[in-house]
Formats: sequence, structure tokens, C-alpha cells
Amino acid sequence: MQSFEQLSAQFATHFSQKHFPAEPASLYAPNEYFLKIGGKRIRPVLCLMGNELFDEIRPDAWEMASAIELFHNFTLIHDDIMDKAPLRRGQETVHTRFGESTAILSGDVMLIAAYELMNNVSLTVIRQVQSLFNATAREVCEGQQYDMDFEKLESISFEQYLRMIELKTSVLLAASLKLGAILGGAGLRNQDLVYEFGRKLGLAFQVQDDYLDAFGDPDRFGKQVGGDIMSNKKTFLLIHALETASPKQQQELKRLLLQDGEDKVGKVLAIFRDCKVDEWALELKNKFIDEAFLHLEDIAVLAVRKQPLKELAEFLVKRDH
Ligand code: IPE
Ligand code: IPE
Ligand code: MG
Ligand code: MG
Ligand code: MG
Repeated sequence: MQSFEQLSAQFATHFSQKHFPAEPASLYAPNEYFLKIGGKRIRPVLCLMGNELFDEIRPDAWEMASAIELFHNFTLIHDDIMDKAPLRRGQETVHTRFGESTAILSGDVMLIAAYELMNNVSLTVIRQVQSLFNATAREVCEGQQYDMDFEKLESISFEQYLRMIELKTSVLLAASLKLGAILGGAGLRNQDLVYEFGRKLGLAFQVQDDYLDAFGDPDRFGKQVGGDIMSNKKTFLLIHALETASPKQQQELKRLLLQDGEDKVGKVLAIFRDCKVDEWALELKNKFIDEAFLHLEDIAVLAVRKQPLKELAEFLVKRDH
């Protein structure tokens, strides 16, 4: 069994080749720029781990892992346009550097490249793989639309938040694991369990992402801190603050949501702090990780095979970037 570090180093080598032709450079160079910056490569490693849970890593699991990472990067390029984000992975976002129209089209062609890679999986499972991948991609779009729709609402329920992050984020982590498991010959029950593990892990992962967006260390985070506050994202931080702040602070928060002033981020953060959102974040992450581990325990393979996934899950909720 290989650790997250081992698998991500191997994946980095596998993935470091060029993914796009040279011409037209104005279309493809932005993609190579973006892929070269790197990233944590969590989803491809989840796919490899999902595979190794049941078998030695099979050759087509590497192709699947690459397809997933390309798909993820495509979502990020478009997400940064939608979120008006200037920074990602410590560098300029694709649309900031190359313009929005290019970022849209370069993102599109990256999605197509993901589908091309997926065609290399074993013919015995290709239908199942494509159908899971398609269902997941559609769900990510739905989640992204909810995320944007919610920006315009004064508040949403905690349940609506959970459904939104499940769609935009969790399902891809869950599917990455399950796709690896399918290629590894897992039975249906084990496939479902690994998916559920990933779904809960994904919720904890997005909770941490939302926490870092507000409280991350700008030198480590790689993205603009406070971006979610500026665009009125309905995160668990805001939902919790609107529920637990004093009536005066609740009024203040609602007023801040309607303005764009320079001091908006600082003032919202102060209210978040007063509401002890960090404790709430920890509670939420622990709850989802505990639930995730229950599903992991039920998977019918030897406990030692599950160790890398446990370690990865623990890293993901403590990460600072
Ligand atoms: C960012 O994902 C998008 C979310 C779903 C929160 P990652 O935090 O995995 O991004 P990279 O690939 O490591 O940059
Ligand atoms: C992104 O959620 C989810 C997808 C890209 C599908 P966020 O908008 O919170 O991700 P970051 O914070 O920009 O990475
Ligand atoms: Mg974003
Ligand atoms: Mg977004
Ligand atoms: Mg975020």
C-alpha cells in the first residue's frame, strides 16, 4: 500500500507530460500554464487509492486519474471566472492572465481532453465509468449554479448549503474513489461504501475550504483570502453567524451583505470570530470525518489496505492550502 506522498509523487511524474498540442498556442498555452502550477492532486490520488484498495494499481487507473485531474482543472478555470478570483495556487488565474474568452475556451478544451483520456479505460467497465463520470459532471454544474444563485439570497438553510457543497465538491471526490474501485474490480457494495466515504470526506473538505477562504494564511492559502465574503457566498460561516450572533450583529451582517465597501471583509470576519466559527468548523469536520470512517470500516477488505485513505482524510481537514 502506498501513502499519499508516494502516490502523488508518482502521479506528478505521470501527469507531467504535455497534455495539449503546441498550436494554437493562444488556446493551449493557458492550459499548460495552469497545469504546470500544480495543486494538491487529491482527486487523482483518491482514484489511485480507490483502485489500490482492491488490487495492485492497474494501468488504466492512471489514465482515469489523469482524466479526473483534467476535469477538476477545467472546473477551476471556469469557477475562477464565475467567482471573479484573481489568484489560484499562488499565481494569477487563467482569465486574469489570458482574458475571459480564452479561459472559457481553454477550459472547454480541457474538459474534452478529460473525456479523451477516459476512453482508455478497460472496455469491460467503460460504460459504467462513463455513466458515473457524466452524472458527476452534471451534478458539479448543478452545484455551481446553486452556489451562484445563493449569492443573491439574503440567507439559506444549513441543509441547502450542504446540498450545494455536496454537488459542487463532494461528488467528485466520491466519484474519484469509486471510479478507481470500479477499475479495481470491486463488488457493488464496496463501490457504494467507498463512494459514501468520499461523499462525507468531500463535505469535510469543502468546510475546510470555506474556513480557509475566510481565515487562511495569505502566504500559504494561494487564493485571495476573503473572496467568499466579498461575493456574498453562503458558507456555513455566514449561516452559523446569522443564527448565533447578537441581534445587533445580525443586523450589521445583513447590512454588510448589501455593500461592497473596503472594510466589508474585516467587519464580517470580526463577527465570524465573535460567533466562534472556528469551533463550529471543527465540530462539522469531525462529524463528517467520523461518518466517513464508518463507511470505510464497512468496506470488505483488510484494514491495512485502508490506512492510506485514513491518513489522507486526516490531512485534508487540517490542510492550510
Ligand atoms: C479547489 O480544490 C476546489 C474545491 C472544490 C474546493 P483543491 O483544493 O483540491 O484545489 P487544488 O487542485 O489543490 O488547487
Ligand atoms: C469550487 O468551490 C467548486 C468547483 C470548482 C466545482 P469554490 O469556489 O469554493 O473553490 P475555490 O475556493 O475557488 O477553490
Ligand atoms: Mg471559487
Ligand atoms: Mg466557486
Ligand atoms: Mg472556496
